[in-house]
Amino acid sequence: MIFDINPDISQAETLSSEFYTDEKFFRESKEKIFARSWQLVGTTDEIDNIKPFTILENFLDEPILITKSGKKLNCLSNVCTHRGKLLIDESCKANGIRCGYHGRRFDLTGKFLSMPEFENVKNFPSEKDNLPKLAFDTFGKLLFVSVNPSAKFEEFFAPVYECLSWVNWKDLKFSAEKSREYFVNAHWALYCENYLEGFHIPFVHQSLNAVVDYDSYATETFRFAILQTGFAKSGDNAFAFDQKIAALYFFVFPNLMLNFYPWGLSVNIVKPLETDLTRISYLTFVSDETKLNKGAGADLSRVEFEDQAVVEAVQKGINSRFYDKGRYSPTREQGTHHFHRLIAEFMNI
Ligand code: FES
Ligand SMILES: [Fe+2]
Repeated sequence: MIFDINPDISQAETLSSEFYTDEKFFRESKEKIFARSWQLVGTTDEIDNIKPFTILENFLDEPILITKSGKKLNCLSNVCTHRGKLLIDESCKANGIRCGYHGRRFDLTGKFLSMPEFENVKNFPSEKDNLPKLAFDTFGKLLFVSVNPSAKFEEFFAPVYECLSWVNWKDLKFSAEKSREYFVNAHWALYCENYLEGFHIPFVHQSLNAVVDYDSYATETFRFAILQTGFAKSGDNAFAFDQKIAALYFFVFPNLMLNFYPWGLSVNIVKPLETDLTRISYLTFVSDETKLNKGAGADLSRVEFEDQAVVEAVQKGINSRFYDKGRYSPTREQGTHHFHRLIAEFMNI
C-alpha cells in the first residue's frame, strides 16, 4: 500500500507530502482518481444538437461529444474510429456526424453508417467502428461524464440528491457575468482539503466568521461526498426553509464543490494543471438576486483570495525537508480525513 490513512481519526496521520510533490503521483492520479470519477462538463441548457467538450482540459484531455437525438442525450467519443481525427470542433446542428478526413459517417447515437472505398475490407464494419459511448448522468441541469466510473453516479451523488431535493433547478439561472476562473499556485488536493474544514474560518476569514456560527459548524461524511453546514448568526442571512442555515457546502470526490446559499448556487470545479498549479472554475447560478450580497454567500472573491493565500503558503511548506505528515483534529477535520482516505483508496488500486 503506497498511502495509508488510519480510519480512526484520533490515531491517524495526514497524507504524506510526497503525494503533492512527486510528479509520478500527479500523473498516476489522472487514471486512478480522475478518470474513475464523475466530471462536470456543462449544463443541459447548452445542449442543442451536437456539442463537443473536453473532459478536464490540460489534464485528462478527453474529447467527447454530447448529442441530442430526439429528446435523448448521448455521450460519445469525439475521435473518428478510422485513423483518429477529432470529429467535431464546435457546436453545430446536423442529423449525423461526418469525419472531415476521409468521410466516415456516424448517426447521433455513434453508430457507424458508411465509409467510402471500404467495399473489400473484411469483417467490416464491426462493433469497433461505432463511436465509443461514455457513461453520463445529470444532477438538476448539471451534466456529468465519467471515462471509467469506479462506482455508479448514484453512489457518488445519492446524499446530494437526498439533502437537496428542495432545490428548484428551473429558478437557478446561470450567470456568465458572475462566473469566474482563478489560478492557484498549489496542488489540487491542497485546495480541496482546505475547503473541507471550517477549522480555519476564524483564523483566515474574518468577514465569513462574522456571519457563520463557528461552534455549530457541522461536517457529515458519506461514501464519496462530504457535507458541511454553516449555521447563521442571524436569521436574515439564512435560507427560507430553515432559518438557521447560512450555507450548505457539498463536496463530491475528487474535485467538485456545490455551495448552496440563500441567493443560489456556486459550483466550483478544481482542475489540476501541474503538481503546483490548479485552475478553479466558479460557475454561478442565481435564484434570488436580492440576497446576493448577504451572509455566508457574500463577497466570495474575498474569501477565495484568503483561501488561495493560505493554500499557496501550504504548497511552499510541504516542500520542506522537515515536513512529511501531520495529525487531525477529531472535532474539526473529519472532512479532510475522509478526503485523504478516499485519495489513499483510489491511489492504492
Ligand atoms: S480519420 Fe475519420 S475518416 Fe479517416
Ligand atoms: Fe476557507
